[in-house]
Amino acid sequence: MSDKIFTVAIDGPAAAGKGTIARAIAQGFGMAHLDTGLLYRAVGRRVLDGTPAIIAASTLRQRDLARSDLRTPEVAAAASEVAADPDVREALVAFQRDFARRPGGAVLDGRDIGTVICPEADVKFFVTADDATRARRRFLELQASGHTITEAEVLENIRIRDTRDAARDAAPMVAAEDAMAFDTSDLSIEEAVDQARKLVADALNGG
Ligand code: DC
Repeated sequence: MSDKIFTVAIDGPAAAGKGTIARAIAQGFGMAHLDTGLLYRAVGRRVLDGTPAIIAASTLRQRDLARSDLRTPEVAAAASEVAADPDVREALVAFQRDFARRPGGAVLDGRDIGTVICPEADVKFFVTADDATRARRRFLELQASGHTITEAEVLENIRIRDTRDAARDAAPMVAAEDAMAFDTSDLSIEEAVDQARKLVADALNGG
């Protein structure tokens, strides 16, 4: 990539493969990557620690994002709760939009990137996978990082979170009209990444 401004928006429910695809595209095309879920997780973490949500969102610091305890089921649930607050979302908009306009290109993954944060994105994906597949993937990740949780609990957590994220009034999780639907249920990581890369390459070449 040159200094071109080029934005890839990747949305979808929890554990559908957004993050993996976003990181691979960013790496493959030399773009910057922002996992916007991490912003909400960092706010959720601070709320669990006792800070009011709007203060946490409007004073978010780099070190909040670098915490090692953001990838827990407890923080994921808190993130989904604070994310329903329109003031919290508003406090995080400018940072995300600035990031999206970085020279050299940017890939952002989340729930409302193609609809609210970057409606003008050059490429939009809405990544999904069936519930059981997503629960299995997230369960294996959590197990590998030492969490004690059952697959059934992970499935239940994911369903609660998806329902809340899709039903809220403020920037609900929904596919943008011009997003490419991408179901990763029956794809390996390599296949999903490969297909997404080809679609981005086509868009970069003016396709
Ligand atoms: O992507 P994730 O699972 O780390 O996101 C955690 C929560 O943050 C998710 O359940 C909803 C919220 N979120 C959001 O509302 N908007 C985004 N762009 C990203 C995440």
